[in-house]
Amino acid sequence: DRSVKIAPSILSADFADFGREIRAIEDQGADWVHVDVMDGHFVPNLTFGPPAVKAFRRHVTTVMDVHLMISPVDPYIDAYAEAGADILTAHVEAGAHTHRTLQAIRAAGMKAGVALNPGTPAEAVEHLLDLADLVCVMTVNPGFGGQRFIDMTEKVRRLRAMIGDREVHIEIDGGVDTGTARRVVEAGADVLVAGSAVFRGGSVEDASVYGRNIAAI
Ligand code: DX5
Ligand code: ZN
Repeated sequence: DRSVKIAPSILSADFADFGREIRAIEDQGADWVHVDVMDGHFVPNLTFGPPAVKAFRRHVTTVMDVHLMISPVDPYIDAYAEAGADILTAHVEAGAHTHRTLQAIRAAGMKAGVALNPGTPAEAVEHLLDLADLVCVMTVNPGFGGQRFIDMTEKVRRLRAMIGDREVHIEIDGGVDTGTARRVVEAGADVLVAGSAVFRGGSVEDASVYGRNIAAI
């Protein structure tokens, strides 16, 4: 299914009220809920671990899309499966054996994603595409919400061509708003993560407008 899906990142939600925030974005048409896991080591910020993700699961009725910005990944795969992740994405830069990591994610019963930092070429995942359900193209350097979009349109185009007729989503993460979304969708992306554009620093007021704009692409 290549229709454009919106995956709000709860990194920009009200951390004191995740249940309400998740319900609000789903009520307003979110297709997936994007959960940013950071370890203070692979990226210079620290967020949620498996118990928090498990608590989010009780509120998510769509798809829980868990983006791991952690290294190593493999020791935690079972914990995120247990926490209820539907999709688990690991960075190709997070270790030497992403091939093994993607196999382990699928073996644990989840869909497997592989993410690329802005400085990493599309070719880094070329030999992983048979093991991946999703490629996440970072359009900011990971670690924080609210950063400026870095244009990766050419990378998205190359990935879509490499993927060919395989069923692999291309997800864009970082600095997505109504202005930047169109270009990447035209290049072949079909999942748009958006944190600050949806929550605007703690509220979801504009999320429905935003969602409709995006869905109209
Ligand atoms: C960045 C995270 C993103 C981030 C997106 O490290 O992976 O998911 O929350 O936030 P915005 O949309 O504000 O760039
Ligand atoms: Zn993310």
